[in-house]
Amino acid sequence: MAKIPVFTVEQAIARLRQTVHGKAANFYAMYSSVLGGIVTDPALMVLPLDDHMVHRGHAVFDTATLTQGMLYQIDPHLDRLIKSAGGARIPLPFSRERLRRIILATAAASRQRDGSVRYWLSAGPGGYGLGPAECAGSSFYVIVFKQEAYPESYYQQGIKLITSQVPIKPPLFARIKSTNYLPNVLVVLEAKDRGADNGVFIDQRGMVAESSNMNVAFVTQDRVLRHPPFEAVLSGITIKRVLDFAQRLVQQGALKALRIADIPVEEGREAIEMMLIGSSIKVAPVIEWDGQKIGDGKPGPITKKLLEMWNEDARSAKDQLVAVPYDEGV
Ligand SMILES: Cc1ncc(COP(=O)(O)O)c(C=O)c1O
Repeated sequence: MAKIPVFTVEQAIARLRQTVHGKAANFYAMYSSVLGGIVTDPALMVLPLDDHMVHRGHAVFDTATLTQGMLYQIDPHLDRLIKSAGGARIPLPFSRERLRRIILATAAASRQRDGSVRYWLSAGPGGYGLGPAECAGSSFYVIVFKQEAYPESYYQQGIKLITSQVPIKPPLFARIKSTNYLPNVLVVLEAKDRGADNGVFIDQRGMVAESSNMNVAFVTQDRVLRHPPFEAVLSGITIKRVLDFAQRLVQQGALKALRIADIPVEEGREAIEMMLIGSSIKVAPVIEWDGQKIGDGKPGPITKKLLEMWNEDARSAKDQLVAVPYDEGV
């Protein structure tokens, strides 16, 4: 049996370089508060194992979209990160302003104009115990990476959904965007096993909750846009914005009203449109749920319109876009 090597510092750094996998070409820049700066070599985009984010899941995160050299909705995403940190009892290592500057500086160092920017606040490194008292201080990490695009068929033909058997997170945990995404991962795997694209969590009362990393909305036969209350699901930044667009559609007469209230599964199944909404998927039509057609089984006009409005917003809504300071130096 081959001997397990014990490396010198130089050998270990050389190994870090040699063992970078091909997909790391999609990782453009990383900030680490442990390093106190930004690296652009994927070999160095590493975390200390003693960070409580790694071995206890005591961390929260959020993601903003980098589009045409601008960060879309960075402020609501940062506000949610700070709220999640409060829920997880993680003290902020820096002021909100400094966190924002670090995110923008990392985006600038990536030299990319499009991608995803994800950032984590963690209880930090310090040991392998449970309680964070041993931690040297909270840590903050930012990564800029290539956004994984969903297949075009999701938008053209629509998505097939199943009701997941994975237990839903209790409301306290569903509202905090923590790094404990095991249920969310399992729902996607379960859906693929069952020949579907994604799954939907249903709560103990039989009410529709949310999907893997997306919110779920419906258009009823009498043209009411419906979404569950936000008490037991993640308060999606995208759905909040989409509700503003939907309000415009109410004014234009395309929708009759918006209704934020519990949605029993049976009522959801009678909808003429169902959609998934989130920063990664944007707005995408669901055409089948547990093998039953939604409406006529084709992407519906309200979903399409809301996607168009989202695209337009991400391109040109000045109050939602923050320019990345590429030329300021970092
Ligand atoms: C569980 C969950 N629900 C909903 C969403 C949608 O939120 P957003 O629109 O802010 O991406 C996400 C993604 O962040 C999520 O992880």
